[in-house]
Amino acid sequence: MAALIQTASSVLRYRGGLGQWAWAIHRAAGLGVLAFLLLHIFDIFLVLFGPALFNELLFLYKGALMRVMEVFLLFGLLYHAINGLHVIVADFFPVLASRRLARNLFYVQLLTLVVIFVPAAFYMMYTLPLEQAGQNAALSLIVTLGVLAIPTGVVLIFSLWPTSRNAKIDMDASKGNYEDSLARIVASRKHRAMTRTELNIWLFMRVSGFLLIFLALGHFFLMHFIYGVEIMDFGFIAQRWVDPVGGWFWRAYALGLLFFALTHGVLGARYSIEDYIHNRAVRIILLVGAFLTWLALTVMGGLVIFTFYPSV
Ligand code: HEM
Ligand code: HEM
Repeated sequence: MAALIQTASSVLRYRGGLGQWAWAIHRAAGLGVLAFLLLHIFDIFLVLFGPALFNELLFLYKGALMRVMEVFLLFGLLYHAINGLHVIVADFFPVLASRRLARNLFYVQLLTLVVIFVPAAFYMMYTLPLEQAGQNAALSLIVTLGVLAIPTGVVLIFSLWPTSRNAKIDMDASKGNYEDSLARIVASRKHRAMTRTELNIWLFMRVSGFLLIFLALGHFFLMHFIYGVEIMDFGFIAQRWVDPVGGWFWRAYALGLLFFALTHGVLGARYSIEDYIHNRAVRIILLVGAFLTWLALTVMGGLVIFTFYPSV
């Protein structure tokens, strides 16, 4: 815990530049989307208990507060996807990782994010039902810009905050500073070569990240902009999944999304556990907990995909 607090405060105080912020927001966004996914797999699981319970619990998605949280989710997912794509491409084409080009690409990234996020978030708020203050352009704009303003504000405040030049940096913990991270990796490689498992995980993170651009963003886009959250209930899922033509396709889509998003997210959470938890026993407990959570939710999600055959 002390390591986590120290790392968080150094990320905020240390001026590692754009790369540091790009990385810190990428990590926070990935963990945020994972937190949503854990809850989401559980709530979709409840469809197996029949329409009464499931439809009653859907107020979770349809309430005004949750609709604002969905705008945060969109921001996190979009930021993580665009930055993740940059990381993947730069890993395979190292010329893109040069400091100057990386900085310019980061600005392109931010522009792409704003161009997609602003109209999408505005639409999500504007199309709320009237009783939830829908069709209110001013409110929709305030929420949209408000969600953008939070990470921007944090970055600005801490970038302008006076920092002592010789602030002591603990080299044990990852600071979110690109050069520190590289130095740590190089130093650790001197002691141990990257194992085959680590290499496979590294590759899996990139392949799954690339697939998730289509699977996760496609799913979010479909649910919000093609169908609309308002019409979602037990019958909506049943109709899509029992359909003789499209049913198998949507089940296969959900299976791909379940496996890649959950595995990528849990393997990603492992980086934070290993970076911040220095006590060996606590670290092992958390890693085992992460594995058991992955297993339980894979089984729950799989049960829905393979056994949900209601009569419609
Ligand atoms: C707030 C936005 C979202 C809504 C309204 C939503 C809605 C739904 C619905 C209705 C289903 C049932 C299956 C279907 O009809 O296709 C579903 C399944 C699923 N969703 Fe989402 N979803 C959202 C965001 C996400 C995101 C961002 C992810 C991934 C990170 C995700 C991952 C999944 C997975 C893995 C399943 C299958 C679960 C299972 O097998 O039980 N969803 N979602
Ligand atoms: C939408 C497409 C996505 C892309 C392109 C993507 C890409 C990436 C990349 C390249 C990494 C770095 C891996 C490494 O350092 O080895 C990463 C890390 C991570 N991803 Fe994703 N990802 C995506 C979706 C998701 C989703 C849906 C979740 C949550 C379920 C997630 C959670 C994480 C987490 C927690 C990390 C670890 C961050 C860190 O501590 O450095 N990602 N992602």
